[in-house]
Amino acid sequence: MFSSPIGIICHGGAGTIKDPAAHAAGLDEAIRAGYQLLRQSAEADKAVVHAVRLMEDNPVFNCGTGSKLTVGGRAEMDAAVMNQDGRFGGVCCITGVKNPILVAERVMRDTDHLLLSGEGAVRFARQAGFEEFDTVTDRARAQLEEFFKDPGSGRFPKSAGRGTAGAVAIDRHGRVAAATSSGGITGRLPGRVGDSALLGCGTFAGPSGAVSCTGHGEEIMRAMLGREVVEKMRTMPAAVAVTLAISESKRRKQDVGVVGLDARGTVGFGHTTPDMAWGYMVADRVFLFNEVKPKRRVTG
Ligand code: GLY
Repeated sequence: MFSSPIGIICHGGAGTIKDPAAHAAGLDEAIRAGYQLLRQSAEADKAVVHAVRLMEDNPVFNCGTGSKLTVGGRAEMDAAVMNQDGRFGGVCCITGVKNPILVAERVMRDTDHLLLSGEGAVRFARQAGFEEFDTVTDRARAQLEEFFKDPGSGRFPKSAGRGTAGAVAIDRHGRVAAATSSGGITGRLPGRVGDSALLGCGTFAGPSGAVSCTGHGEEIMRAMLGREVVEKMRTMPAAVAVTLAISESKRRKQDVGVVGLDARGTVGFGHTTPDMAWGYMVADRVFLFNEVKPKRRVTG
């Protein structure tokens, strides 16, 4: 029987990473757990959801517990999962659940819809058995207080601080999937939706590959970056597809990061930001961003 080499690549956000050791430890845990599922013959979408769930539970990452807050002080979170067959489930502006990615997975598996938002997403989560949970941390509150000291002079407050967690995997049948979860941007307006839960933007998968994006959501949405990179994978390996897309993003002065895998299981990663936390596991070996020399490698 045909058996593809398994692999998983994750990111823990793009920007400036002040605590690389904590990011690396969290990524290492998520990557190994996702890979372990793949070894046990789990499908790619199960592995990416599991990896992202672990990052949602780790306050180091801006998703789930530790999500950034709106100007109203709420953690409105976005998450989505997609597999190569076009199956997709997402939630946006969801509040009061521990793991938005698990709710997104239920949207994909249990409904005919692709995306649920706000109150409707919360109601769906409760019906599906997800209990009330407060994801707001003291650190997120402190970041919002800092933001209010200098909110900018525009018509709306200048939003600040970003990050996301995502995973992309290929299973032993050669099927790919991507999942992304985000706690948004500190000081955003209530109701703002980022790229993470939007099909083709922060999360995308197709027969040629899958990607998860991080960075400034509005810029990722304008570029439809996820779809852009996967389209390129039709004719080129993931590393080249990501490198080309990142070069274009750099030219446009966009703050973005991408991780992906093509249908042959080769990885691609890149960012225009000073840092991105990422790591991958193939052939039973883990590679982490802060172990690669030179330290700030931008594409691969
Ligand atoms: N990429 C995360 C966000 O902008 O919401």
